[in-house]
Amino acid sequence: MLSSSFSSSSSSIGRMEESASSSVYEKVSLVVSGNAVVVFTISGCCMCHVVKQLLFGLGVGPTVVELDRDSSGRDIHSLLYSLAGGGGRQPVPAVFVGGKFLGGIEAVMGCHINGTLVPLLKDAGALWL
Ligand SMILES: *[C@@H]1O[C@H](CO)[C@@H](O)[C@H](O)[C@H]1NC(C)=O
Repeated sequence: MLSSSFSSSSSSIGRMEESASSSVYEKVSLVVSGNAVVVFTISGCCMCHVVKQLLFGLGVGPTVVELDRDSSGRDIHSLLYSLAGGGGRQPVPAVFVGGKFLGGIEAVMGCHINGTLVPLLKDAGALWL
């Protein structure tokens, strides 16, 4: 009597969402694991510019992904948003070093100020000297 009607509830939408977000996740993992330093930006974002200039100034040539020019930009944006912990703040710039999420402008500046940024970049192979 309580037969099998539970099993097939609501699965197709769930699966579609899952596969869309997991392919974006794969795309992002591929980019961040294949490049020593990756910066996700949006054009016209002032702090994105600051973070890129800081990295260039240290001699790092980061891989830059501009979300407003990328076909998966919107999905990547939501992924970064959840990575950064939400809170209504802009998830860019988002900086990855050595395949790991470092953070946004505060994290990068903080590491720069306390001297941990350069060793991190060296470990990741982004700086040789
Ligand atoms: C340096 O600053 C970063 C960012 O604020 C922090 O996460 C890290 O723990 C600090 N490291 C040291 C050694 O103080």
